[in-house]
Amino acid sequence: MLNVSDLHVAYGPVLAVRGISLTVPKGQIVALLGANGAGKSSTLRTISGLQRPTHGTIEFEGRRIDNIPAERIVQMGISQVPEGRQIFTDLTVMENLRLGAYTRRDGAGIKRDLDRTFTYFPVLGERRGQTAALLSGGEQQMLAIGRALMAKPSLLLLDEPSLGLAPMLVREIFRIVKAINEEEGLTILLVEQNANLALEIANEAYVLETGQVVLEGSAEELRGNEAVRRSYLGY
Ligand SMILES: Nc1ncnc2c1ncn2[C@@H]1O[C@H](COP(=O)(O)OP(=O)(O)OP(=O)(O)O)[C@@H](O)[C@H]1O
Ligand SMILES: [Mg+2]
Repeated sequence: MLNVSDLHVAYGPVLAVRGISLTVPKGQIVALLGANGAGKSSTLRTISGLQRPTHGTIEFEGRRIDNIPAERIVQMGISQVPEGRQIFTDLTVMENLRLGAYTRRDGAGIKRDLDRTFTYFPVLGERRGQTAALLSGGEQQMLAIGRALMAKPSLLLLDEPSLGLAPMLVREIFRIVKAINEEEGLTILLVEQNANLALEIANEAYVLETGQVVLEGSAEELRGNEAVRRSYLGY
């Protein structure tokens, strides 16, 4: 579904991504792991068109997208949940969710996807009229995911959903993400520093170090890999 080939991203003199190639097959969860500054967010932001590559190609469903404006990429079916959530805290939960559907004109479909979002995240339904500032960190992360779902993506890009959340909450969010993947067939590229949890729900994984892929394989292989365990899993 997604093919990234020899991707390079630079911020002036800073080379953030140095030749990353990766594939996300339809229906799978692929994890992108690595420490702070490894280039995970830069890779995601370049896929969603918020950042231009200095070299390399990105293909989505057989079409080059590395030169297409971000808004058009959303319409093509790629939706990103940014690092740090970036929800609009002055707006209500409902207003945030409706903003996720801003490129859509199919009223009935939007209504259906709102109901679907409330099914996966009941707390968002209960609090639909409240300002998002009143939500807990975990609930705000759920809102960020719900907002991305409202764009009706076929590929969801998730940037560190576990950031700053208690382990139990992270587990709950990952359980829901896995359910959405299995029940809706939604393809997911998941960026995480919490390799342990990510490898529990992912099918495939890539490990990045200073802008390059240093390891790749099935989640099962990586869980059993001594170097990965030592460096990223902490046991
Ligand atoms: N807007 C920017 N301007 C300049 N340098 C940047 C910018 N964004 C990222 N970088 C640099 O690019 C490199 C990769 O950053 P990136 O945010 O992609 O890493 P990351 O893997 O997402 O890290 P983290 O886990 O901390 O979110 C880092 O050296 C970072 O300092
Ligand atoms: Mg990041």
